[in-house]
Amino acid sequence: MRHPYRKKHDLKYERLFCAVLLWALLLVTMAGCGSFQDVVPEANHLETVPGEEENLIVVGFSQLGSESVWRTANSESIQGALTRENGFFLEFNNARQKQENQIKAIRGFISQRVDYILFSPATESGWETVLQEAKEAGIPVILVDRKASLEDDSLYTAWVGSDMVSEGEKAGIWLEDYLKEEGREEEEINIVVLQGTVGSSAQLERTKGFQNIAREHPNWHILKQEPADFTTAKGKEVMEAFLMTYSDIDVVISQNDDMTFGALQAMEEEGITTGVDGEVILISFDAVREALELVSQGVINVDIECNPEQGAYILEILRKLENGETVDKENIVEEKVFTKENVDEYLETRTY
Ligand code: AHR
Repeated sequence: MRHPYRKKHDLKYERLFCAVLLWALLLVTMAGCGSFQDVVPEANHLETVPGEEENLIVVGFSQLGSESVWRTANSESIQGALTRENGFFLEFNNARQKQENQIKAIRGFISQRVDYILFSPATESGWETVLQEAKEAGIPVILVDRKASLEDDSLYTAWVGSDMVSEGEKAGIWLEDYLKEEGREEEEINIVVLQGTVGSSAQLERTKGFQNIAREHPNWHILKQEPADFTTAKGKEVMEAFLMTYSDIDVVISQNDDMTFGALQAMEEEGITTGVDGEVILISFDAVREALELVSQGVINVDIECNPEQGAYILEILRKLENGETVDKENIVEEKVFTKENVDEYLETRTY
């Protein structure tokens, strides 16, 4: 069964056809100039426009960027679920970390009258106007991964993602237990935090979750929290700055694995060791394969999983909506905590 406004979309395929034709013309022109890679994000997804007889469900997806290994896995999971074989035509747009690009993409999806809009908000605030436009056009919006802060929660139909406050709390609880095991629970502990993109729910919630635990420990001192944009390059830069300022860091918390890789480079260059037998306790988030290998080697003490494999959840929600069924507003993906003790059994099957 199609949702009711689908009948209003008589011009949908013609519009999609025009959009793809325009892209194709742009591609030919830019290829001639030899600079297409500079202007069109490689991850933007141009599939052959669906024929009307295919009766595909058209989904516009504004992904916030491609800053991390996690993000690539998340895009691939969604692209792998919303396939033609499963009855979908997915228009993928990479916003390259810019909210204005996401708003533009969402407006584009509205004018094409897609059936559903998916988007992962780069930051929490600033979405009311464009989501109101989607609502008025009768297009259901599914939030993916990160949250948007909205007074009116009728502006989206469902959200699929991680409980990031809980991720932050897991990091704090792990540290609490570890210090106890090591007999260091009374020691003064100096902590620095590499944060993700400022204003993103991943940064805000992981910070909040960790602080929920840290505030119970007056001997834990958060020396500095500095954004490093979830990237390796920025992670290295920010860690270098921490090392220039503080000579007595006990714990590094890095809000994603990519920043952890950068922080590790910075510490290695200064001859600082980390992990199980190292000088600095290293806590990371995401649990991508390369980081799990470092957990297995004892270089990262603990990796709090953030699960990017959200495609199957989204597929199920869209199928339910297509069948006229109600869906849960909040859909939280399953996640684990990896340490040297348990990581090896998961490493073999890690695909990203
Ligand atoms: O929102 C999820 C976070 O965004 C992941 O931890 C990070 O790697 C990504 O960039």
